[in-house]
Amino acid sequence: MPKIQGKKVLVTGGAGFIGSHLCDRLLAHGAAKVVCLDNFFLGKEENLAEAAKDPRFILYRDDARHYGVVEAIVDKEGIDVVFNMATIALNYSFFNPFDAYMVNVEIADTLLKLLKAGAYKTLIHTSSSEAYGTAQYAPMDENHPTDPTTPYAAGKAAADLMVHSFSKVLDLDISIIRPFNNYGPRQNADGPLAGIIPKTAKRIKNGNAPIIEGDGEQTRDFVYVKDTVKGLILAYENEKTRGQIINLGTGIDISMNHLLEQICDYMGFTGEWEHKPARTSDVRRLCADSSKARDLIGYSPDTDFETGLKETLNWYERNEMI
Ligand SMILES: NC(=O)c1ccc[n+]([C@@H]2O[C@H](COP(=O)([O-])OP(=O)(O)OC[C@H]3O[C@@H](n4cnc5c(N)ncnc54)[C@H](O)[C@@H]3O)[C@@H](O)[C@H]2O)c1
Repeated sequence: MPKIQGKKVLVTGGAGFIGSHLCDRLLAHGAAKVVCLDNFFLGKEENLAEAAKDPRFILYRDDARHYGVVEAIVDKEGIDVVFNMATIALNYSFFNPFDAYMVNVEIADTLLKLLKAGAYKTLIHTSSSEAYGTAQYAPMDENHPTDPTTPYAAGKAAADLMVHSFSKVLDLDISIIRPFNNYGPRQNADGPLAGIIPKTAKRIKNGNAPIIEGDGEQTRDFVYVKDTVKGLILAYENEKTRGQIINLGTGIDISMNHLLEQICDYMGFTGEWEHKPARTSDVRRLCADSSKARDLIGYSPDTDFETGLKETLNWYERNEMI
């Protein structure tokens, strides 16, 4: 079985929320080199503050869609494995649906061509539960139909189909990991692409009412970011995951009303909420069946939602991000 220890790893989108936690963990697990490629569309250098202290960490500020860029990096750094974390956040779908869709497909195309050419050995490709669309049954296993409702989700699903089919036809060394909704430190807190948790905490901190969209009964399966990162590395280190699509979730779905109540309780907010219409094409329910991850790689999340939420809110407070 391959080990991260001693490997030269490329993380596309490594300056983002999940990618930066992955960089930290790869270094902690003894990777020989961790190379981050990010165009800083949403990535932040602050996210890499810990990683950047390590001489094994290398940062490239460039575009993972471009074959020449990735080819040069993979060649120069002698990359063994690529973790593909780069994307443009879901809400960008409502502003520029074309790029929100295509970025996923174009990056997958570049990484597949290089893998086929033998430029590196293994691709760990990150999908999203959004590819499923609203739960037709729950919990949702990997056989659940994909019915994406936004260009972001369609781009993720399209990239997954591409990567999965290429892995079969060309016998490439690929695992596809499908995390459910991540939360935790470093999730973007600013502007229209902010995550719901930092966005709500920031509004409360600034004396504004939290915003709930629609009836608030839409649910998500919230996974602590460090649990996702653990699952990504376990997947690389176990060849049974090759050619497979694997969910990472908790099996517990939480409504937006419940999430906001918890944030309000923790921050001592007792006022009224602001109500807005439901988001266009919003998914109604997501709830993971992660038994395949449990059976194949022994995956189970370490962090329950209450603990993870407190750690997250404390982190934003400590870092003066809200
Ligand atoms: N956050 C979640 O809840 C969640 C859930 C399921 C799956 N995922 C998936 O996990 C991965 C990471 O998501 P995230 O939440 O960390 O997102 P993020 O937006 O925080 O990070 C994505 C990173 O990709 C970078 N990027 C975008 N386009 C790029 C390009 N062309 N070249 C190089 N870098 C580029 C961005 O600058 C950003 O740093 C994505 O594949 C996403 O679809 C996320």
